[in-house]
Amino acid sequence: MENILRNIKVNGIAKEEGLLNTLDIEKATKLIKPIREAGNMGGIGLSTNLKSLLIKLVKFDFRTMAASIYFLQLAKKLELAKISEKILESNVKLYYMDCYRSQKSDQQLVDWHLDHSVSEIMNPEKRAIRFIFYLTDTSSDHGCLGYIPKSNLVSYALKKGIFEKVLKHTPHKPLVDFRKVIQIKENYQYIKNIVGEEAIKEFLKNTDFADKKNFIENRFDHTVKRGGALIFDELGVHSAQKTSLGERIIFRYFYVKSKIH
Ligand SMILES: [Fe+2]
Repeated sequence: MENILRNIKVNGIAKEEGLLNTLDIEKATKLIKPIREAGNMGGIGLSTNLKSLLIKLVKFDFRTMAASIYFLQLAKKLELAKISEKILESNVKLYYMDCYRSQKSDQQLVDWHLDHSVSEIMNPEKRAIRFIFYLTDTSSDHGCLGYIPKSNLVSYALKKGIFEKVLKHTPHKPLVDFRKVIQIKENYQYIKNIVGEEAIKEFLKNTDFADKKNFIENRFDHTVKRGGALIFDELGVHSAQKTSLGERIIFRYFYVKSKIH
């Protein structure tokens, strides 16, 4: 727990190998495979509350229902809410849970980007702590997540300024756009006052690869073995490498503060 808290505080992301035992891995894989057909790249949402479970029941969607119940129990066993509470320093609630089954592909799964950054004006206090559990090994050649250290802090500051209407809202989803937006004079000044100039400079230096054509950047990859998980602040800049070695199966939990003051 201490390691997770320290790494998230410093970099916005933490890795924990071996969180799932062999039985968990087998059971989770068995539950996900039938509800997400091979070849479909999208995630499938699971039920996080009783109402949503009942809807699945009414629709005779027993497979998704069984998977949802299992993943809710697993979250309890692994005390994910407790970990999120410590990270967010608040009571939390599970607001989203899903699973993915990505097929072998030579296309990058997801390019470097920020979530919640197109038309949405987001209160950054509503950010989620995400847990991604891997049921297949990941590597730089195979479906691992990339995450720019401390990018969550810069992103938080920009979103705060926009949300409080001190800064003008400019969409900033792709990393290249985000880099431009944070260098606008007023934005830069505002972010600097919150995170300090060192943090912005470090971020800009770490991400100068984004301005090059056809860049491939592996320095910020977080490879995880089957049964391990990544825990991170969703405001950070992230990517997912191509799944060039075969199938990749994951499931995810998103925890948010239960009340925003
Ligand atoms: Fe994303």
